[in-house]
Amino acid sequence: MNQIEKVRNNVKAFCSNDSTGHDWWHVWRVVNLAKEISQKEGANETIVELAALLHDVDDWKLASSSENYTNTIQILSEAQYNSKIINKVVNVIKQVSFKGAGVNTKPTTIEAMVVQDADRLDAIGAIGIARAFAYGGAKGRQIYIPGVEPVLHNTFEEYKNAKGHTINHFYEKLLLIKDLINTQTAKEIAKERHAFMLNFLNQFTNEWNEYSKQ
Ligand code: ADP
Ligand code: NI
Repeated sequence: MNQIEKVRNNVKAFCSNDSTGHDWWHVWRVVNLAKEISQKEGANETIVELAALLHDVDDWKLASSSENYTNTIQILSEAQYNSKIINKVVNVIKQVSFKGAGVNTKPTTIEAMVVQDADRLDAIGAIGIARAFAYGGAKGRQIYIPGVEPVLHNTFEEYKNAKGHTINHFYEKLLLIKDLINTQTAKEIAKERHAFMLNFLNQFTNEWNEYSKQ
């Protein structure tokens, strides 16, 4: 087994039981999206692939050890990657996650831009919709609560602690994504996915309004 296969296997084992939309298939789609974007944007493919594979193993939404990137470092060390590569990968992963509408998370390297774009593309479109409701259900959130309006969070703390319904998540994050995308390649992919979410919300509102009257 080569180094990258070792990493793949460890990540697969790490997220195999996830039901919050952060399962192995999410990771794998992010890897494939990131590789496609990377080729067109000229990023370092090894760093991009490793960061895409490991981008959620220390995420605050899932792991308890997120602050020090211990899972990432352990998996890379086990596969015998050197400290130079480990540092580069951690530096990318640190920059990937969304932290609230008003919090600047613009990446500083092309590799981080690519992985952030890939992760965000998997949060929108049909799969993004499925993942949002899976996450909401897993965290005990309701589908929709009339009258509870979205909030554009200005700090990571506020975003992290928010307890709104999942329809609000579209206005608090998912519909903002298309304008936060870094690379031209990902912007093109985002357009259709964004339009699909607008259609979904329109249909949802129509069905809701027609049959939720008291
Ligand atoms: P990021 O770290 O940028 O948020 P992730 O891939 O870790 O990216 O997680 C994003 C996924 O989690 C999305 O599919 C998103 O819909 C879901 N998610 C996060 N917060 C919420 C929430 N409050 N309600 C519903 N889904 C959420
Ligand atoms: Ni992710």
